[in-house]
Amino acid sequence: MAAPTSNIPTIFAAFGATGDLMRRKVLPALYYSYKHGELPTMFKVVGFSRREWSDEEFRAYVQETLEEHAKGKIADTTLAPFLSMFKFQRGEFGDKSSYDGLKKTFDTLDTEWGVCSNKLFYLSVAPEFYELILGELSRSGLTDPCEPDQGWTHVIVEKPFGMDLGTAKQIDEFLAKLFTEDQIYRIDHYLAKEMLQNILTFRFSNNLFELSWDNGLIENIHIRVLEKIGVEKRGPFYDGVGAFRDVGQNHLLQMLALVTMDHPESFEAGAIQKKRAEILEALEIIPEKEMKSATFRGQYEGYRAIVGVVPDSDTETYFKVRATLNSPKWKGVPIVMESGKRLGAPLKEIVVTFRHPTPCLCPPGAHHKNEVIFRMEPREEILIEFWSKSLGFTFATERREFHYMLREQSEHVPYVEEYAKLLLDCVRGDQTLFIGTEEIRAMWRFTDPILAAWKDGVVPLQTYAPDSKEVLKNADYVK
Ligand code: BG6
Repeated sequence: MAAPTSNIPTIFAAFGATGDLMRRKVLPALYYSYKHGELPTMFKVVGFSRREWSDEEFRAYVQETLEEHAKGKIADTTLAPFLSMFKFQRGEFGDKSSYDGLKKTFDTLDTEWGVCSNKLFYLSVAPEFYELILGELSRSGLTDPCEPDQGWTHVIVEKPFGMDLGTAKQIDEFLAKLFTEDQIYRIDHYLAKEMLQNILTFRFSNNLFELSWDNGLIENIHIRVLEKIGVEKRGPFYDGVGAFRDVGQNHLLQMLALVTMDHPESFEAGAIQKKRAEILEALEIIPEKEMKSATFRGQYEGYRAIVGVVPDSDTETYFKVRATLNSPKWKGVPIVMESGKRLGAPLKEIVVTFRHPTPCLCPPGAHHKNEVIFRMEPREEILIEFWSKSLGFTFATERREFHYMLREQSEHVPYVEEYAKLLLDCVRGDQTLFIGTEEIRAMWRFTDPILAAWKDGVVPLQTYAPDSKEVLKNADYVK
C-alpha cells in the first residue's frame, strides 16, 4: 500500500516546539524512526518557539524529553547523531520577521545540502493559532516549493478538526485557500494502528469472508474502545469536548469505515479515502425521536473534581450510539459504537456477529452465531468464533475459536509506533492513513445532531462508578 521510504532531503518545521504533542508523541516517534533507520539521510528538525534558546539548549530539551517519554529505549550510539539533527529558530507566531528568519534557516540548510529539500510543517499549538501560523507561512512564501518540480511542502493537522460541521468547514475552507488537498495531512492515529490496517488486508486479501460481508449474513457490528485511564490532567481540553467528540467522531467512525467500506478500485490513497468517505456519507442521521433509544451518555463519579472541569459539567466521559447505514449492503444492520474512560480493564475491539444459521445443526432453541473479532487491547489479535461438535457419544456442540495473535502486547509502543508511521508517510507523500476532507464532513454530519440532542437534554446524563463496567449494563438498551 505505502510507497517505500524515500530518502529525499526533508526539513521538519515544528511550531510550538515545546508543545504537549511534540513532547509526548512527535519527538519519541522521530527518535523511533531514526533508530529503525527510516528517516532520510538528510533530515533536520527546526523547532520554532518564542524561547530564547540556542541549538544546544534545544537539543538538551529534546534529550530530556526523550528520557522522560521514551523511557529505557534510548541507545547512546544513536542519541548524539539524532540530536545533531535539531536546530532552533526563535520566533513569535504573529511576527512577520520571525517567518523571514525561518526562511533564511531553510535556505541555509538547502545551500549546505545543495538541494531544494521537502518541507514538512507540524503545528503543536492550540487550534486557535492555526489560522495565524498557516496564514503567515503562506504569506512569507514558506509553503511554496523552492523549485517547480522539486521540494514539496506538506502541512500536518491534528484533531480536533473543528467542534462541529460548521467550524470544521471553516478550517477546511481556510486550509483550501492556502494549500491543495494533497499538501494537507490530517492525523487520526487510529488509522496507523496495525490491527486496523489489518482489517483491510483481512477483508481484501482473502476470499474467506468478503463474499458474506454484508447484511445478508451479518447481523450486527459492535465497536468498542473501553479505556482504563481517566481524563487525568486533560480537564481543560476534555471538558469542552467530551468522549463523543474526542474519540467517537473520529477514531470509532474510522473503525466503522474500515469494517464496512467497499472494495477500493486500487490500494492507492485516493481510492481508499474515497471508499471510506462513501460509507461515512451513508451514515443515517438519527431522528430526534429516536435519540433516546439509540444513544446513551454517562459521566464517571469524581470527573467534576478534575482541575479544569466546571463544577456542574455535563460533559460525557462514556457514550453508546447505534448507527445504521443507508447502503444496499448494510441496510438494517445495527452498528453499535461505545467508548468511555475509567471503565476498568481496557477492551478495544470490533466484533462482527453473523446471523444464526437456518436450518442449524444445533440443539433446538440454541443460538449459534459466529463472530469475527478484531481486537487491539488487551492483545492485538483476530478471533473467529465458531461451533464445533463436542467429543463423545452424543451429538452436542460447543463454542471454539480460531485465534491469531499479531504480537505480544509488550512489542507495541503505544502512540510512538503509530506516530512514527504517520510522520514517515508524510515524508513519503502517502496519504492513505490520513483523513480526507469529505470524510471529515461526513463524520460531523452524523455526530452534530447527536451532540445537539444531548445539549438540549433529550438524553439524560447518567453518572457511573469509575473503574467498573457497570455502566455498560445501563446502556444495554442501545443495541
Ligand atoms: C486520543 C484521545 O485521540 O485517543 C484520548 O484524545 C484517547 O482521550 C486516545 O485516550 C485513545 O488512543 P489509544 O491509541 O490509546 O487507544
